[in-house]
Amino acid sequence: MAEEKPMTVVTCTAPVNIAVIKYWGKRDEELILPINSSLSVTLHQDQLKTTTTAAVSRDFKEDRLWLNGKEDDIAHPRLQSCLREIRRLARKRHAGNGSGNGDALPLSLTYKVHIASENNFPTAAGLASSAAGYACLVYTLAKLYGVEGELSVVARQGSGSACRSIFGGFVQWIMGERADGKDSVAQQVAPETHWPELRVLILVVSADKKSVGSTAGMQTSVKTSLLLKHRAEAVVPERMAQMIRYIQQRDFEAFAELTMKDSNQFHATCLDTFPPIFYLNDISKQVIGLVHRFNAHYGKTKVSYTFDAGPNAVLFALEDTVGELVEVVKHSFPPDGNGGQFLKGLPVEGASLSDELLTVVVRDPAPGAIQYLLHTKPGPGPMTVEDAGGHLLGADGLPRSSC
Ligand code: DP6
Repeated sequence: MAEEKPMTVVTCTAPVNIAVIKYWGKRDEELILPINSSLSVTLHQDQLKTTTTAAVSRDFKEDRLWLNGKEDDIAHPRLQSCLREIRRLARKRHAGNGSGNGDALPLSLTYKVHIASENNFPTAAGLASSAAGYACLVYTLAKLYGVEGELSVVARQGSGSACRSIFGGFVQWIMGERADGKDSVAQQVAPETHWPELRVLILVVSADKKSVGSTAGMQTSVKTSLLLKHRAEAVVPERMAQMIRYIQQRDFEAFAELTMKDSNQFHATCLDTFPPIFYLNDISKQVIGLVHRFNAHYGKTKVSYTFDAGPNAVLFALEDTVGELVEVVKHSFPPDGNGGQFLKGLPVEGASLSDELLTVVVRDPAPGAIQYLLHTKPGPGPMTVEDAGGHLLGADGLPRSSC
């Protein structure tokens, strides 16, 4: 038998995704099975990503976890579900291999694991960190234990939306019907290269903390909102088919309009929840107004918005519209001038605005209301970091930049 290495270590990265047909409501809390299918765009990891390192060693005394350099609770039930599930799949694969044939896993499944995870964006900004976080955890553990196959089913058990971050480009989460959740899987609808002109502009609103977390929020909605029930049964199935078609056809106007309608319906179900939940604030509403005025000015849908469980706006536009859009946003929400960079991410070509556009679109400027803009585009799914310099854990199995 080959000598076992003192420590086996793997590092991977995973993306954030933004839903254009929203997931809201579970039919099974434990397995995280949704009441409707959903569809999202995976965002580029150059701008937003989670990096996770996982290591196993016979010297480790216990399973441990560090988030952004600080030790955290590894006993979290959802994290434990993912860990348990990956270890179960690894054992199954090992047994299937015939453990003595040399091709078997070189590391012991009884070893303890150390996990360190970091975001390249502020967690507090409310940018779907749990989706990237759980997708990255599951992908990294799968590489570490040599597990292949349906990883979206495992990521789903960490956080529903995380299953969509297992793929790049345009991704649907098929709700499935089975009680064991085996058919509740994510699937790529089109790769990130499919629509090269599509751009995403995230408006990070200077906000207070989010009022109700999605897990708790959707529980109350399922219990109390008849509108949500109607949405799941009668609205989403048709919208899924439409959205897939619009993406395949790269029909921006149709894609953009349905994206806005679905975001609005999701927030309507929040208002229909009892007691009601409000994720949009006054700034979000100003952004909605701005987008509609912008589109009305051109007489066509050039920009769309979508909002998750918080006030940040995610706008979609084609590349040739971004310059003007950024100028309009800057005029509507003049930067605070606190020295921070207002426009982050992909470079934007400057545009000069006509006086007419300014007068029509910009109303009641709100200085400092938007912290910054992040310009990005659709991107690829999880990846392995090949360079050993990228590991978040050092040779001693502890975080390299631990505080
Ligand atoms: C509004 O995936 O965060 O972003 O499954 O309870 O972890 P849990 O919820 P989560 O919910 C995301 C809700 C949403 C819409 C979406 O991403 O589809």
